[in-house]
Formats: sequence, C-alpha cells, structure tokens
Amino acid sequence: MGAIERHEDLDKVLISQQEIKEAVVNMGQRITRDYAGRSPVFICILKGAVMFFTDLLRQVALPLMTDFMAISSYGNSTKTSGVVRILKDLDHDVLGKDVLVVEDIVDSGLTLSYIKKVLWERGARSVRLVTLLDKPQRRRVELEVDYVCFQIPNEFVVGYGLDYKEHYRNLPYVGVLHPRFYQEESDVPGL
Ligand code: IMP
Ligand code: MG
Repeated sequence: MGAIERHEDLDKVLISQQEIKEAVVNMGQRITRDYAGRSPVFICILKGAVMFFTDLLRQVALPLMTDFMAISSYGNSTKTSGVVRILKDLDHDVLGKDVLVVEDIVDSGLTLSYIKKVLWERGARSVRLVTLLDKPQRRRVELEVDYVCFQIPNEFVVGYGLDYKEHYRNLPYVGVLHPRFYQEESDVPGL
C-alpha cells in the first residue's frame, strides 16, 4: 500500500485500493453501455463523492457533462427531521437531461431521495443514482439505487472521500474507523 499504510486510527481496511479500482472500471463500462447514444449529466455530491466521481468519469466513454451540488452536513437534525438543505446548487439546468447522481455512500437514503425528488421537479428526463458504497440495513426511506459498487455492513467507514469530521478523506482505500474515535458521539451516521 506504499506511503499510506493502514492508518493507525482504523480498525481494519474494508475495501482495498485495488478492489476500488476494479469496481470503478467495471462501473464505468456498465454506465457507458447503458447510456450509449446519450449525453448524460453527472452530478457529484460534494464533498464525499469527489474521489469516486473523478475516477469514475475517466472510465466513462460518453460525451458527458458534469455539475456539482453540496448538501447540508449529516447530523442530528437530519436524523430526526429528514430535511436536507442545499448548500451549493447546480450551475446548470437539468431540464430534459439524463442525470446520474454520484454519491459516496447511501445510508438512511434521505439525502438521495431528496435530491432525486428535486431533480424530477426540475424536469430531468431521467434520474439514476450511482454510489460507491451502500449500507442497505440502515435505510429509512424506500429508495432505488441504480448502480452500487459495494454493499457494506453497518459500520462507520472513512477514506476514498469519506470523512469523519473532515479527516481521512485522502486515504486511498475504505476502512472502518476504530470505535474509540466516535464512541461518545451521538451524531455519527452508521451507529
Ligand atoms: P443518508 O442521507 O443517510 O443516506 O446519508 C448519506 C451521507 O451520510 C453520506 O453522503 C455521508 O456523508 C454520510 N455517511 C453515512 N454513513 C457514513 C459512513 O460510514 N462514513 C462517512 N460518512 C457517512
Ligand atoms: Mg456525503
């Protein structure tokens, strides 16, 4: 694993750099086939999906466009109310477009179900969801996720874009954060 060996704050590495790479290549090829003849818009949900987004797009051989959206951070308020706030909206109109929303992880499903609803309301022609990770056990709303690289158990993970309090995003693999780092937190998704 080179310079960034298993980080000491981790319990274990869940998905290695190589496994991520292979999954991303496969996903890019699959989306390329499914969208042949179309020019979809890929929307990156900031900030967690950045690594996945940039790696994935390099494996997609389509005349695609990109846009970015930031959503209010996941915390207590989201847990109780399910309300999601847009912190940075898209730069471009999605009217009549085939849209693919790219996320790092689907947990309760609240974020993506909200974004999907907004994109439909704005007149997108189609909306599909792409995620690196999925924790199906944690779902609180019914949500169809069209493209999933990895289903994972109910553990809090970091790395490859995913953070805990803005740390660990740069790890090139996905790992389980050691529970001692969030044992006293009540606002951590995945618990
Ligand atoms: P959802 O709305 O509950 O599906 O939440 C999705 C968001 O929660 C993701 O975009 C992450 O920001 C965050 N999240 C959920 N589980 C984890 C995790 O295990 N590690 C890091 N962030 C997570
Ligand atoms: Mg996120």
